[in-house]
Amino acid sequence: MKNIFVLGGTGFVGSHVCEQLVRVGWQVTVPTRRRVNAQAIQHLPGLTVLELDVHDEAALTHAMAGHGAVVNLVAILHGDPAAFAKAHVQLTEKVARACLANGVSQLVHVSALGADPARMTTAPSYYLRSKSAAEAVLAQVASASPALRVSVLRPSVIFGVGDQFMNVFAKLQAIFPFIPLAGADARFQPVWVSDVAQAIVRVLALPHHGGAAHTWELVGPDVMRLRDLVHMAGALSGAGAGKGRPIFGLPMWMARIQAFLMELAPGAPLMSRDNLDSMRVDNIATSGMPGLAQLGITAAAIEPVARSYLSR
Ligand SMILES: NC(=O)c1ccc[n+]([C@@H]2O[C@H](COP(=O)([O-])OP(=O)(O)OC[C@H]3O[C@@H](n4cnc5c(N)ncnc54)[C@H](OP(=O)(O)O)[C@@H]3O)[C@@H](O)[C@H]2O)c1
Repeated sequence: MKNIFVLGGTGFVGSHVCEQLVRVGWQVTVPTRRRVNAQAIQHLPGLTVLELDVHDEAALTHAMAGHGAVVNLVAILHGDPAAFAKAHVQLTEKVARACLANGVSQLVHVSALGADPARMTTAPSYYLRSKSAAEAVLAQVASASPALRVSVLRPSVIFGVGDQFMNVFAKLQAIFPFIPLAGADARFQPVWVSDVAQAIVRVLALPHHGGAAHTWELVGPDVMRLRDLVHMAGALSGAGAGKGRPIFGLPMWMARIQAFLMELAPGAPLMSRDNLDSMRVDNIATSGMPGLAQLGITAAAIEPVARSYLSR
């Protein structure tokens, strides 16, 4: 039996990961900044919720003691450069040091498609540059500390029950008669949350390798433009009498104004200028990179899965 410490276990992907980890009989500890955020997972058998400031390195190191493996799913989508650096880079450094201090043998880090240690200064957005910088930290840790097996998973956009992607576009089309869409022609290769969670479980079960960090790109079988995904969300949820709402792709200058106005609204923005910058590069797999197939997983297509939760 393994003891796994799952940072970000309360989130969308994390809750699916925790469900799959307890299903295979592993003990799971989930630190959270606020216990109330763990409501969806705290009932799982063998799962312990810890209220903890994960940025407090001493507390993090103490809490991680006795765990054989760590999964890090913490990330933010919006913020200033300092917030991205704190959540993505500095926290990754602290997690890696805490792993080494506790003799943890495996660290699985969930990054994002488009991140690459070679692009930590040139990737198009703060999000991708900070994700890339976190991967660079882990590459160094892996080569300096072969006793710690480091695995990096880079998913494309993730769909599934509880996603903030297809569900949001479905809700918007229930309200508005048409959708002015930024980044309409950006291409994605959406991957099912259950496949991502399964990949994490499989990576945790792989035999030990020392040295370089191993990286997998997690994508589904369909390459689609954002406008086609938004149309699918509308049609499957029954908006516009099942045809979806008309979608108007915005030119970049107008998209930036829209994103700026959304940033001014209270709460997390639907789209920020940094999100737009991320979409300057297609979010699709790099040829030759290992992925779900190499982990023995047949990636699910988006349409039947999205139909099952959007048509409810
Ligand atoms: N969802 C996608 O489409 C997608 C696509 C590509 C990559 N990914 C990656 O997959 C991972 C999981 O994504 P997700 O969609 O599940 O994210 P999520 O639902 O937003 O969950 C993020 C988790 O991180 C914790 N967290 C958030 N901000 C934090 C902060 N400032 N400091 C410390 N902890 C913080 C939260 O825990 P508490 O609130 O409980 O503390 C939460 O459980 C991330 O690395 C993300 O970049 C996601």
